[in-house]
Amino acid sequence: MLWVKALHIVFVTSWFAGLFYLPRIFVNLAMEQDPNAYARLMLMANKLNRFMQPLAWLALGFGLWLWLGYGIGGGWLHAKLSFVIILTWYHYYCGKLLRQFEAQQNQRSHIWYRWFNEVPVLILFVVAMLVIVKPF
Ligand code: HEM
Repeated sequence: MLWVKALHIVFVTSWFAGLFYLPRIFVNLAMEQDPNAYARLMLMANKLNRFMQPLAWLALGFGLWLWLGYGIGGGWLHAKLSFVIILTWYHYYCGKLLRQFEAQQNQRSHIWYRWFNEVPVLILFVVAMLVIVKPF
């Protein structure tokens, strides 16, 4: 079980590296006027987005294995899963925003993306408290 939990934490951490960095690239894309710099940022964003898919599935897969395979659960896990659903939607929405940047149809300012970038930080804070402290 500890191997599965260790792998769960490794892939959660790797997934979060992408969830923190991709919206940061969006902040820069929303400000960028130079077409060459824009193209370079798009290349980085597409590569990162492709890399994040398997990391997300592995993080969620090992979490499900801990829950359904080893029967670890409780009220804390139900609360955690609601934040995991929001996080998964957030990842999906980043893909939608990336396609808008691809089509040069972004409508939002870099300020909006700076706030958008804080969402995964808040979710990680709450989930870490739920899974470590298990308040209920
Ligand atoms: C389908 C989604 C997920 C499920 C079913 C799940 C389930 C679990 C379970 C059952 C544990 C073991 C808890 C224990 O042994 O006390 C665990 C550990 C952990 N999970 Fe998840 N998890 C999921 C997604 C996530 C996500 C998205 C994060 C980060 C935001 C996360 C962060 C953690 C951490 C940090 C631990 C280690 C806790 C410890 O060492 O006691 N999990 N998870």
